[in-house]
Amino acid sequence: MIEAKRISKFFSVINKDGVAEGMTACLSVSLSIEAGKIITLLGPSGCGKSTFLEILAGLQAPTEGEVYIDGVRVLEPLPSTRSEIEEYRKKYRFLSPLANDLFRDRPKHDIAMIFQDYAVFPWMTALQNITFTLKLRGLPRGERDAQAGYYLNKVGLGSFANKYPSQLSGGMRQRLALARALSVEPKVILMDEPFAAVDLLTRERLQEDLLKLWESSGVTIVMVTHDVSEATYLSDEVIIFSPSPGTIRNRFTINVPRPRRRDDPELAEIQQRIGKLLKYDLDNETEYTI
Ligand SMILES: Nc1ncnc2c1ncn2[C@@H]1O[C@H](COP(=O)(O)OP(=O)(O)OP(=O)(O)O)[C@@H](O)[C@H]1O
Ligand SMILES: [Mg+2]
Repeated sequence: MIEAKRISKFFSVINKDGVAEGMTACLSVSLSIEAGKIITLLGPSGCGKSTFLEILAGLQAPTEGEVYIDGVRVLEPLPSTRSEIEEYRKKYRFLSPLANDLFRDRPKHDIAMIFQDYAVFPWMTALQNITFTLKLRGLPRGERDAQAGYYLNKVGLGSFANKYPSQLSGGMRQRLALARALSVEPKVILMDEPFAAVDLLTRERLQEDLLKLWESSGVTIVMVTHDVSEATYLSDEVIIFSPSPGTIRNRFTINVPRPRRRDDPELAEIQQRIGKLLKYDLDNETEYTI
């Protein structure tokens, strides 16, 4: 269970006249996500979705509010000294992915994040991308290759283990990112527009892969997307953010049983309703920043 409680995030920015002014990226966002569900976040560009996701991951501190996973607080600030780290560690079980990397003796971690752009290291082969992550996470040397190979096979990249990301297609790179996230066997995977950069057919294949992996692992997935049909096809619930400052505008629960048909009339109807909402927000936006 992920619980975000009244999350707000304020930034101070310098405007074009050189004056500092406040900017609110998220405003009092509260959200509970049951374990094992797929949730997508939709909303206009700049409404704070990535910021909110990074706060869930513990990669950014909220200005106000708290995030809990299974009742344990997710912490963002990295302790700086070894003794502080030990203190944190005794007190809290969940730390951000960055903080988790500080602990070499914990092979399993709780949160994995997939970014759209920096998904994999280009200078490492597919296999090395995963074994390196497992090394950081403290898995013994002898077990890394087998575990990495297992997850590469799971995403259909078994025969590409020794290829570099530049030798893979965009869709394969995303599958590699998925394999790397799964390889640490997280409880929660947070994905920020993971399939935005691939063509439609590849995207649909990746969605199928994701569903298969989700079914076999029971992981909780929170995903940001701009694609309404992707959101409705994959999710148990679609959360619509309002234009900036981001607040939760609507929640759509999708009870259509899986496996779903992409042309299911019930999904089509929800898509239409969501599409109208998003269009309304776009039409009524008063300020455009170009
Ligand atoms: N570090 C920062 N400093 C100042 N402002 C920021 C910072 N990070 C984000 N913002 C602002 O917060 C708002 C929300 O940004 P965010 O990246 O969360 O939006 P988003 O919903 O993910 O948008 P998109 O759909 O385009 O990815 C934007 O107006 C952005 O300019
Ligand atoms: Mg974003």
